[in-house]
Amino acid sequence: MDSTEFSKQKGEASFAHRLLEWYDANAREIPWRVPPHDHAQGIRANPYHVWLSEVMLQQTQVATVKDYFHKFITKWPTLDGLAQSDQEDVLKAWAGLGYYSRARNLKKCADVVVAEYDGKFPQTFEELKKLPGIGDYTASAIASIAFDQPVAVLDGNVERVMSRHQRIEAFFPEAKAAIKLILNSILDDNRPGEFAQATMDLGATICTPKRPACAVCPINEDCLGFKNGDAENFPYKKPKSEKPTRKGAAFVIINAKGEVFLCKRQESGLLAGMTQVPTTDWNSRQDGSYDTSEAPIEANWGKAGIAKHTFTHFHLELTVWKTNNINTLPVNGWWCNIDKLSDEALPTAMRKVIEKAF
Ligand code: ADE
Repeated sequence: MDSTEFSKQKGEASFAHRLLEWYDANAREIPWRVPPHDHAQGIRANPYHVWLSEVMLQQTQVATVKDYFHKFITKWPTLDGLAQSDQEDVLKAWAGLGYYSRARNLKKCADVVVAEYDGKFPQTFEELKKLPGIGDYTASAIASIAFDQPVAVLDGNVERVMSRHQRIEAFFPEAKAAIKLILNSILDDNRPGEFAQATMDLGATICTPKRPACAVCPINEDCLGFKNGDAENFPYKKPKSEKPTRKGAAFVIINAKGEVFLCKRQESGLLAGMTQVPTTDWNSRQDGSYDTSEAPIEANWGKAGIAKHTFTHFHLELTVWKTNNINTLPVNGWWCNIDKLSDEALPTAMRKVIEKAF
């Protein structure tokens, strides 16, 4: 069957019908989701929750997002509350998720929706895309899941399911355009948001990257990848280019009370405005020195190990130097009790550094 015939399937034989029937029985329970039974009763998802979770889900898996989502809606139960918050507090609550510009955009977006849209998210893909931090994916996910607009939602799970089902022999972004066309012709106009979530759930639980469970898949009967026995070869992936490794030094200064000295990174560039211990001047293109020649104070430094962290475009190895015997006080920062580190806007790389020193 070619993709034109496939997209013309109707009724119970259709892809959407089989997928949604499976979803009705197997939808994952997720805090920001309205389960299919409730959706059928007319209950709809809170657009604030959908937006927040979808922005977070671009960073990491559902399991990790659950804790962050809970933290955010406990601190800021409404979009208005988030708009009234301090940018700094949003960064602190986001710390550990990475891509901190997303956290800045969360606050900016909340501000714009409150100021210009009376606190209510617009409902269409086009209007949503005008908001800070909302790109194609997030706009389509909100329009579809929160407002039941019939738009294709394409994340990594959906790409995998569709490129296997239709054996799409193209690399991205060409494959993406082909999948969007197909999705727009097959999605269920009555339940577009659930169609999107069903495809995501199928990708996360059955059509997994490795060893997909094709035998129990609700859409295996016309899956071309399954028929051909090569589903796992899709989607086509270009080989990843090697990431460079950057080096630098980080300095953990501990005072007589056992507190750690922290400071703020500059307001632009990598990890802009986040909290750190003093470090040498490494960035994504350049190493810093990794001995103590650029330490912020003169002290008796001991080597505490090497903290490794991988960013999108490079690996970082920070040599961690530690001192708890100081004669001079460091400047331009503050002391933080070790038990209070979770209240700080510390990125994961810095948590790893501090862990090396204790
Ligand atoms: N991944 C990204 N968004 C999702 C959603 N709404 N449901 C399940 N998995 C997702």
